[in-house]
Amino acid sequence: MSQMKAVRIHAYGGPDVLAYEDAPRPKPGADEVLIRVLATTVNPFDCALRAGYLSGFFQYSFPLVLGTDVSGTIEEVGPGVTSFKRGDSVYGRGGVDRDGTNAEYALVPASKVAIKPGSLDNAHAAALPHVTLTAWQALFELAGLTRGQTVLIHAAAGGVGHIAVQLAKLRGAKVIGTASANSNFLRELPIGGDTQERSWKVLKRGGILVSTVQAPSQETADSLGVRQAMVFTNPPIGKTLTEVATLVDSGKIKPHVSAVLPLAETARAHGMIEGKHTRGKIVLQVTA
Ligand SMILES: NC(=O)c1ccc[n+]([C@@H]2O[C@H](COP(=O)([O-])OP(=O)(O)OC[C@H]3O[C@@H](n4cnc5c(N)ncnc54)[C@H](OP(=O)(O)O)[C@@H]3O)[C@@H](O)[C@H]2O)c1
Repeated sequence: MSQMKAVRIHAYGGPDVLAYEDAPRPKPGADEVLIRVLATTVNPFDCALRAGYLSGFFQYSFPLVLGTDVSGTIEEVGPGVTSFKRGDSVYGRGGVDRDGTNAEYALVPASKVAIKPGSLDNAHAAALPHVTLTAWQALFELAGLTRGQTVLIHAAAGGVGHIAVQLAKLRGAKVIGTASANSNFLRELPIGGDTQERSWKVLKRGGILVSTVQAPSQETADSLGVRQAMVFTNPPIGKTLTEVATLVDSGKIKPHVSAVLPLAETARAHGMIEGKHTRGKIVLQVTA
């Protein structure tokens, strides 16, 4: 079987459990595509997975390839895949409950892949899927954000936040964002300052608190006459990514990449994410 380089864990732990090593290059099964990865990322999700915090949510087995975001080219399509062909430039979100994308090749269900925005290089395209799908679900699918509403976005300079600000503006909402060290960057998007529990009191009756971090209390929501929801994204998302690509190519959404590291330095990227002050996204460049 051919080999590839991949970032895998053999046990849960700190960044030192991340091994950049040879791994078997996978073969696509039914409805899957094999992507030659040109860029991928690290999200807080990967750090949580590595540390073992997600073992109660998903059935993982070791060794496990980390990573969710991917931008690259289709290497091979599995049986039943008609929407892509070898050589297509694509981006998507894989991993989550299976081997991921921090590797030279990644298997992703075809339903979680779309043609990459033509106006972006691979580093910027890889920066988009995980955080954009999260912001999309929070603002549009859970909160049902409409023109003229006011939305408060915490950690607005981070991966999810900087895209959420742009999507909310695009929808015609008034946007307030919170940040500390990144306030100048945020002024280029919008502004503000605070966290989940203290956020209840800024909601008006009928408003909604959507969290990406921990499920808000239904009891508190009921007592205040507001709604609550938690983002948990893992559905087929190719259609949304196609829509996102159109928005990107028409200049309406712009990902911000603050650092590009080689795949072999994934552990350093985890350390940076765990520092909790990332501006936009940290990307891993892959040279096969
Ligand atoms: N449920 C889901 O499906 C889902 C999906 C994606 C992400 N998430 C979660 O959503 C959170 C954000 O993800 P991300 O990718 O945007 O992370 P990120 O890029 O690492 O976020 C970094 C940002 O967080 C801000 N920040 C740090 N501490 C803060 C605090 N106490 N209050 C307000 N802002 C603070 C920092 O802003 P300053 O430097 O300006 O302080 C920085 O810009 C993470 O906890 C992640 O696990 C959940």
